[in-house]
Amino acid sequence: GEEDLRYKILEINKQAALFYVKQLRSEKGKQGLAYCAKRKLSGESITHFGLGYAGKERDSLYQYCKSLGFKDQVLQESGLFSFKENGVYDKFFNRLIFPIMDLHNRVIGFGGRVMGDGEPKYLNSPETKLFEKSRNLFALNFSRKSRANYFILCEGYMDVISLHQWGFPEAVAALGTAFTEQQADLMKRFNSLIYLCFDSDGAGKKACKRAISILREKKLEGKVIRLSPYKDPDEFLKAEGKEAFEKRIEEAKNAFLWEVEEKKTEFDLHDPAGMQKYMESIAELLRTSFSDPVERENYLKAVAREQMLKAENLQHLVDKEEEKT
Ligand code: CTP
Ligand code: MN
Ligand code: MN
Ligand code: MN
Ligand code: MN
Repeated sequence: GEEDLRYKILEINKQAALFYVKQLRSEKGKQGLAYCAKRKLSGESITHFGLGYAGKERDSLYQYCKSLGFKDQVLQESGLFSFKENGVYDKFFNRLIFPIMDLHNRVIGFGGRVMGDGEPKYLNSPETKLFEKSRNLFALNFSRKSRANYFILCEGYMDVISLHQWGFPEAVAALGTAFTEQQADLMKRFNSLIYLCFDSDGAGKKACKRAISILREKKLEGKVIRLSPYKDPDEFLKAEGKEAFEKRIEEAKNAFLWEVEEKKTEFDLHDPAGMQKYMESIAELLRTSFSDPVERENYLKAVAREQMLKAENLQHLVDKEEEKT
């Protein structure tokens, strides 16, 4: 039945993970190890995260799983293979492999990176009976064990591994999808403070704003880590090291105040009409973000102070918005 199938998929995933690990350490895996070295991944990180290598042959995992006695139906459900008219092919080939584990350290899916500039850069397991991307976070199985009372939420596999390697085992990442409410719930089981550490490009900022509204809805505290002038935490750490990142954690900005700072760039503040729209947008953000009057006032005051606006004026705009609804 269904349970039996889930169990068999888990078993295939485990065998596949072991297969990829073995390949990385074999003659064929040299290129994979060289890529790890190029990305400055330590041997310890490679072992800890169970990194592996999918070789250039198109069906070596398939042949291996067949030899272990798995039936085609189960292989199909695992999401690891493409069943085509002219044969069955491994989904992952010529890639560095990142196993994705659930809270109980069971492998539920994989990510794979091309070693170089090919497309797509990352390939992820499709959703299966076991693998729901929106309900899992990469490395949560490790980070939940950290003694710290927070998580660091970043974008990618490499960011997470780099952060752990440099002494920040609180890092997790959403799995190639937007951060979800279920992922927020999952984190909330362990910690209520989340440092947001998305890429400093446009896509990263957009993802960050989205994550902030989810955190707020879930009553989790968000703080935004500034990475500039670097693009992501992996690049930051390689360039600046551990202590510089610790400093960025200390300096991390209250998520709401970060949002306001971002808003600022959307308006021309030298123009009174632009200034008006900017202030209205802050009022709107205050009104929709905080239903508790005390909390709202605290934020209003903080914004007024930081942005050098009159608190009474902001309050007036919030009240005006309130009357409309
Ligand atoms: N991603 C994905 N599919 C892609 C590109 C990205 O699933 N085609 C996901 C991956 O989980 C990736 C994350 O989005 O780790 C962040 O993407 P990006 O910033 O482009 O990659 P990096 O993590 O910075 O990867 P690298 O440093 O290896 O270039
Ligand atoms: Mn903890
Ligand atoms: Mn990115
Ligand atoms: Mn990167
Ligand atoms: Mn990146």
